[in-house]
Amino acid sequence: MKNDQWNDVDAYIEETIVGSDEALQAALDTSVAEGLPAIAVSPAQGKFLHLIARLIHARSVLEIGTLGAYSTIWLARALPNDGRLISLEVNAHHADVARKNIARAGLSSVAEVRLGAALETLPKLRNEAPFDVFFIDADKVNIPEYFRWSIDLGRSGSVIIVDNVVRDGALADPNTKDEAVLGVRRLHEMLRNEPRVTATTIQTVGMKGYDGFTMALVN
Ligand code: SAH
Ligand code: DHB
Ligand code: MG
Repeated sequence: MKNDQWNDVDAYIEETIVGSDEALQAALDTSVAEGLPAIAVSPAQGKFLHLIARLIHARSVLEIGTLGAYSTIWLARALPNDGRLISLEVNAHHADVARKNIARAGLSSVAEVRLGAALETLPKLRNEAPFDVFFIDADKVNIPEYFRWSIDLGRSGSVIIVDNVVRDGALADPNTKDEAVLGVRRLHEMLRNEPRVTATTIQTVGMKGYDGFTMALVN
């Protein structure tokens, strides 16, 4: 479903207003060189995450799914010098590449990668909660669990963003057998009746195709 015009417009947006720099570009380039999949958020989305964190004056971020730390760098740059970002990653090679990219960006004192399956590492974060911003971007099957954990590890006013919830429109397919789609559908069913958050889902197109994100505010 990727479309040339969507790519062109994303490139135009990046070139005009998003901007890039050596550390962000190196995070993407080393990810390719190290064989990581090219599935980081787009530059425009990265800056959007950065803006969300700035808008709420976030001091702490919990990211689930690090990859090469591209989104991590955007989010960590939104934090004050004494802010803190923890990013959970199950793949040791991804974590290794990510740590180098965080260091190159000068963010090692703010951003930290914790290696392990998120469902194992999340219960160990209680002492470090609450977090102001959550970015859920790991395996899609466990999205409902990650969302529950985010509510638990958040506070009133925390923002939870979930990537890749529209999936080429499959979100609305009641007959899907795709585990990832079932994950994002379960998230929506859960949000139908979840008084602890106020949420919406926004469809997006761009260099990553047709997808979308859910954004929730913890009440
Ligand atoms: N947020 C990144 C992209 C993350 S891609 C960015 O936009 O730049 C998804 C990542 O989640 C991959 O690195 C994958 O290894 C990791 N992942 C998959 N399952 C996971 C799990 N159970 N726990 C933690 N990380 C997981
Ligand atoms: C995939 C994962 C992502 O987080 C993403 O943004 C795009 C694709 C994937 O697993 O294919
Ligand atoms: Mg994603």
